[in-house]
Amino acid sequence: MAVSAPEPLSTNPLRTLVHEVQAERHAEVPYPPGETRFSVARTRRFERDPVPLLLEAYRDHGPVFTLRLLWAPVVFMLGPEANHYMTVSHAQNFRWRDGSLGDLIPLLGDGLLTTDGEYHRHARRIMLPAFHRERIAEAADAMIEEALSGLGPWRAGDRVDLYAWTRHVALRVAMRALFGFDPDRAADGFDPAQEFERALAFHGYDYTLQMLRGPGTPWARLRSARTKLDRVIFAEIARRRADPGHGGGDIMSLLLEARDEDGEGLSDRQLRDQVMTLMFAGHDTTTSTVTFLFHELARGPHVRERLLAEQDRVLGGRVPTAAELTNDLEAVRRAFATLTAERGTAFYDAVVAAVSYLQGVAGHSAILLYSDGRDRSSRFTFAQSLEFAQRAGVTIYSIGADLPAFDVVARRQLCKLSEETGGRCFFVRTENLAEAYTTIERDLRHRYLLTYEPGPSSNRGFHAIEVRVSNGRRARSLAGYYP
Ligand code: HEM
Repeated sequence: MAVSAPEPLSTNPLRTLVHEVQAERHAEVPYPPGETRFSVARTRRFERDPVPLLLEAYRDHGPVFTLRLLWAPVVFMLGPEANHYMTVSHAQNFRWRDGSLGDLIPLLGDGLLTTDGEYHRHARRIMLPAFHRERIAEAADAMIEEALSGLGPWRAGDRVDLYAWTRHVALRVAMRALFGFDPDRAADGFDPAQEFERALAFHGYDYTLQMLRGPGTPWARLRSARTKLDRVIFAEIARRRADPGHGGGDIMSLLLEARDEDGEGLSDRQLRDQVMTLMFAGHDTTTSTVTFLFHELARGPHVRERLLAEQDRVLGGRVPTAAELTNDLEAVRRAFATLTAERGTAFYDAVVAAVSYLQGVAGHSAILLYSDGRDRSSRFTFAQSLEFAQRAGVTIYSIGADLPAFDVVARRQLCKLSEETGGRCFFVRTENLAEAYTTIERDLRHRYLLTYEPGPSSNRGFHAIEVRVSNGRRARSLAGYYP
């Protein structure tokens, strides 16, 4: 499915300034309360050490507040409720490209972090299979090797800058797992990891310096680092396209082969933008998490002792294997036992996730949906989840367990999802589940593949189909298809 590329954003700081001033002037609702007077001191404080400033504003104004930084009123949302609101319950109200993440476009381009809507969903569908558990497990060897070699020089009593150390290790892992680059073999004296850090350094400069253009400015250094990185990445893409099947198991080679439901893959530019985005998305997040992990372990001798004891007991001095890190269901169960569920189910999201997971898997797929049919916190709508399933050609069987008869909306939705995708819905009491499973199993064994070659059509929407059987029997089939 051809999806049009997102609109380019201007990188001209004056144009951005005018745009932001106009956006404030034409705002249709008031900004949330906060510190909205112009203040150079506040902007400088934010640049140097933002956390205390944000915590003060949180204390004074609550989880949603405005801080004017330079000329722009910036709205912040902090805390668990705000996170849930933005990333789960009301995610559809937010766009990533127009917010601060858009500032990353000059380096990252149009990847998952800087795009929205259909373009974003389409890219996600193509990329998802590259992140299956087995694929991640393949990267675990690189992680273990790099962690060990990073720990090699440590001696008891050393003082180590942990943040710098984790950044170094994480970048080496990313270079190998994402691009298949050997971080010890800097080509022609060019070290991609170092160049990436150089490009990121742009965002550490004061805002006024970030606005400067011309030779010798942080902007010029960002552009030059990007040009050098692009040269290496595009050369690698060209090398692999010319010699398919010899890329190794890294993410770049998986994305080179990834296709959407119409067999369309990523262009060179899209591939470059997505891999660069993954490099960024996985960098600061992982490095600060690991650094804080060490920090918390240093503060909590109790936990540290338990961790070391577990390590000795399980590993007895050897290094862990990928399977131990990813397949230990008992450890996952223990970890989940400490979590408490909040809010409600996200049934539509679960359908979209399951369907996306099956994308790229050969053969005809079916999903068995076991649900109370209610949805409290999905970011996708019912109609979208149905469309995802129809586009992917996945058949859904649904079982509504212990659903009250008056819950007509839930019942109707479960049945619609199933009937429109060629499956069936069942409403049973939990003790009769076995019967439903047996019927579904029998049904799946007796499926027939009827193929139908539609003629050319300019209508990209849903095409309904009806299958009639002449001897008076009924045949269940898909309700239609997307061309
Ligand atoms: C401790 C480590 C990490 C943390 C805390 C973290 C956190 C997050 C959060 C909060 C989001 C936004 C989710 C949402 O909108 O619902 C996100 C998105 C994302 N993360 Fe991570 N992340 C981590 C590691 C990684 C790694 C290692 C990668 C890749 C190699 C990665 C790639 C991404 C991508 C591509 C997105 C955007 C997904 C999309 O918009 O479809 N992250 N991450």
